[in-house]
Amino acid sequence: MTKIIHRHPIHTPPTAIRGEGVYVYDENNRQYLDACGGAAVSCLGYNHPAPIEAIRKQATELAYIHSEFFTSFTAESLAEKLADLAPAPLDHVVFLSGGSEAMETAFKLARQYFVETGETSRKFLISRRQSFHGNTFGALSIGSHVARRKPYLPMLNSDHHTIAPCFPYREQRENESTHEYGIRVANELEEKILELGADKVIGFVAETVGGATAGVLPPVPGYLKRIREICDQYGILLILDEVMCGSGRTGTFFSFTQDDIAPDMVILAKGLGAGYQPIAATIVSQTIYQAVHGGSGALMQSHTYMGHAIACAASLAVVNTIESENLLENVRIQGKNLIAKLRSELGSHSNVGDIRGRGLFIGIEFVSDKTSKEPLDPNFLFHSVLKRNAERNGLMCYTGGGSIDGVRGNHVMLAPAFIINDAIVDEIVEKMSQSIDDSMAEITAVAA
Ligand SMILES: Cc1ncc(COP(=O)(O)O)c(C=O)c1O
Repeated sequence: MTKIIHRHPIHTPPTAIRGEGVYVYDENNRQYLDACGGAAVSCLGYNHPAPIEAIRKQATELAYIHSEFFTSFTAESLAEKLADLAPAPLDHVVFLSGGSEAMETAFKLARQYFVETGETSRKFLISRRQSFHGNTFGALSIGSHVARRKPYLPMLNSDHHTIAPCFPYREQRENESTHEYGIRVANELEEKILELGADKVIGFVAETVGGATAGVLPPVPGYLKRIREICDQYGILLILDEVMCGSGRTGTFFSFTQDDIAPDMVILAKGLGAGYQPIAATIVSQTIYQAVHGGSGALMQSHTYMGHAIACAASLAVVNTIESENLLENVRIQGKNLIAKLRSELGSHSNVGDIRGRGLFIGIEFVSDKTSKEPLDPNFLFHSVLKRNAERNGLMCYTGGGSIDGVRGNHVMLAPAFIINDAIVDEIVEKMSQSIDDSMAEITAVAA
């Protein structure tokens, strides 16, 4: 009997014992093709020698040193590397151990920035519906994951201010172009700022490419440019959550560079450590850094393991490998290949409503009727059925429910490692397609 409280305590998951490339093996030597990097984490596969050797070396020299007393060469080198990769004005970094911690750090630093500059009336963060920014109280208070917020609602901050997501498949009107749609939903930010009072707003928080909640939502062209303009006009900070979509997942190291903008803060996690170590980074602009440096001179946020020496060593090896093996190009090539093959195999499937994505970050949304876009009956829990059938077929994929509004809709997310090739793409498409058919057959039999 397990002593762990597993995610679903009535079902202890299989025990994984080894990983090779994109494949994971359980204790019975059953093989699983990881098509989602766990949770968009494992971007180099499971046994890349570079981070393994970096961990071994750093553990031998100095595993841990507290950031109140010392810095380390690995943390300094990683910070320099990220500052080099990040476009202006981003140029200083705080290292944390996970996405939620790094989002909390961003929110607190954003408030600290205005405290330092004397604009203490600023207190609101605006986010988007169907967003997820982490599971801690602060991050849940700001994000909009309906199911994860629900049990804690009475304890969350009641100042929850949201605008629409950028979700053209569901919300673009028939009589508007994609560009007009993007501008319309971006303009909701201006309306919200004016409603709350421009001098009360700290910033706008969004995933550059929406992830787990709605099943991959890339912004339409022009949307983030208009968002940036509005933030500049009202002097509020643009905070982009690239915990899931950053670190190369969409084909550029930072996804927002594809939208020709730069935020005041960007947050990386997941792929930054590629699963070899838990690590996250909150990267901020020179202006924010200067306000702290020249103001109180103290970062009013800390965690015990920030800047952990082994985690930084592993992450540096991951980032260097992404560069030295030219993996961003492979993400772009195989991303196009995967989405094209999914569209060709599943595009006419009567229960596949939309296949969307950027790079190797791809979502498939399911429907009961392709024309009306009517979702499947939520009672079928199609996403859970699909996950189970995919596992039975030796495929790991990240499924979710509530894609439309937190309750209705089902999707699956694919986020395989950056090292995949044509043969692995074909295997993902074949196993995904089989698993969808098996799952449809299962819910149809239940309904009959
Ligand atoms: C976009 C986004 N932000 C924040 C988080 C929180 O990260 P973590 O689970 O590492 O705390 C997640 C996790 O899935 C995420 O997808």
